Amino acid sequence: MKENLERIKQEALAQIKQADLPEKLNDVRIKFLGKKGELTAVLKGMKDVAAEERPKVGQWVNDTRVAIETALEEAKEALDGMLLELQLKNEVIDVSLPSKKQPMGYRHPNTIAREEVERIFIGMGYEVVEGPEMEYDLYNFEKMNMPADHPARDAHDTFYINEKIVLRTHTSPVQARVMERGVLPIRMIAPGRVYRSDEVDATHSPSFHQIEGLVVDKDVTFADLKGTLEVFAKELFGPETKTKFRPHHFPFTEPSAEVDVSCFKCGGTGCRFCKDTGWIEILGCGLVHPHVLEMCDIDPEEYSGFAFGMGIERVALLKYEIDDMRLLYENDVRFLKQF
Ligand code: DAH
Repeated sequence: MKENLERIKQEALAQIKQADLPEKLNDVRIKFLGKKGELTAVLKGMKDVAAEERPKVGQWVNDTRVAIETALEEAKEALDGMLLELQLKNEVIDVSLPSKKQPMGYRHPNTIAREEVERIFIGMGYEVVEGPEMEYDLYNFEKMNMPADHPARDAHDTFYINEKIVLRTHTSPVQARVMERGVLPIRMIAPGRVYRSDEVDATHSPSFHQIEGLVVDKDVTFADLKGTLEVFAKELFGPETKTKFRPHHFPFTEPSAEVDVSCFKCGGTGCRFCKDTGWIEILGCGLVHPHVLEMCDIDPEEYSGFAFGMGIERVALLKYEIDDMRLLYENDVRFLKQF
């Protein structure tokens, strides 16, 4: 009996040694330890063993089973380790291999300028909102205090979709849309594309970009407007920048002004950049006209506000000293990668 068990053990160990795949190990397990396995057969034969021999023989059988099981386990572990190693070797990534480079784009000067302006106003607690580029005449003109026969409409000659809808000529209609939401106070800027039927030249394009600003609250005064735009100009053009408010006229603000900043190139002494004036115009602004507030369901007795609007291209041209607006639209990578 003992020899028989020893033979089974040796046979099993030999087959385990030869197994080079986990499946083969499994075959060995079934062959010796399975239901119809060789060791199981011996176990079944126990009934023929004399009663006093049984504990001893049982012990042998058990020892043999443990030996085979241990060998199987160790072999499986070794085999798994080897296979993993092999897989790691095969799947190794050669990090020194040069990759296929996707050329990265550059941010457009308009984008840089817009984000810079947004950053400054977000820092002062403004919300950034957007309005539609196809706009009702009602918002683009009427609610901005430019009724059908108003002469200011001439300067905004634009593309009509139909009698009631235009490609917006400025971002000012977003003012009306935000006021009509009825949530006060308001502190917002609205960047976006606008359209005018202008001929293309160094400073004009039929499609360009503006950023509108609007604040509506109780007791908003011209002093608030001045303070705000002064902080803005210093942030955008440097701490030495001075601002000048020149009286002007816009239908939707009263009083209105145009704002000049001291030339950041010469510091105000006069140069080619500022056409020897020492000043550069950057935006239009004013206190929101009471009639505009009324048309947007805000009581001008209770609330007041200020608004401003600037051209993004203008800011980009100034900041990056670009002297022809057309360069911004040509998308020549040699130009764009400078910024
Ligand atoms: N919408 C004006 C334009 O396109 C610019 C402007 C001027 C906007 C004064 C304003 C403002 O909000 O107060 O010419």
